[in-house]
Amino acid sequence: MNVLVTAGPTREAIDPVRYVSNRSSGKMGYAIAAAAAARGHAVCLVSGPVCLEPPAGVAFVPVVSADDMLAAVGAQFGACDALVMAAAVADFRPRAVSPVKLKKAAGLRPLELEATPDILAAVAARKGTRFVAGFAAETGPVMLAEARRKLRDKNLDLIVANDVSEPGAGFEVDTNRVTFVDAAGEEALPLMSKAAVADRLVRRIEAELARRAP
Ligand code: CTP
Repeated sequence: MNVLVTAGPTREAIDPVRYVSNRSSGKMGYAIAAAAAARGHAVCLVSGPVCLEPPAGVAFVPVVSADDMLAAVGAQFGACDALVMAAAVADFRPRAVSPVKLKKAAGLRPLELEATPDILAAVAARKGTRFVAGFAAETGPVMLAEARRKLRDKNLDLIVANDVSEPGAGFEVDTNRVTFVDAAGEEALPLMSKAAVADRLVRRIEAELARRAP
């Protein structure tokens, strides 16, 4: 199958030297791209700025902002059988980007923010027969309820939910503890390497697409 994976954070410029972003390292998304390639799939990885080498044999599209990622995902989506949106897209961006460096001497000014486009919701609205999976980065006991809300609101086939406040899970670390949430229910996996989570996810998508095939 053709698998489209997004990874890493996006950066939303404030001025030529500063930006708004988040703690995503890209490790989970890169592990998914590597796992899919290892299982013989054609993979396109759309990645925000991270300190990782793209896995061998993967088509690589580097991006910076949410708008860049939306354009890249929009361009690749038609050709994919499955999209896994592991990127931590910045939810907000400065309403206006200063073309010149803002000077400290000018004093602290409130940063006016606006929402970025929801990439996953935009493409999932026209998914057809494609399998579309998202991640839900949550903190605390709202995790499953929020995952189910996102599954429904964004028209997804699967949500990979993780509590990013748990030790060993979420941002920057090499392990994760996730729960797969779909229309049929939930599967809670134990703490495992991101590579192992990625392999489980790819096999699950394979099985689902095989089940749907006529
Ligand atoms: N996502 C996206 N575009 C955005 C924000 C999020 O495509 N502008 C995707 C993420 O890649 C992820 C999923 O939506 O697969 C859920 O992201 P998350 O940050 O958990 O949720 P949000 O939709 O941002 O909602 P909230 O801030 O309420 O948790």
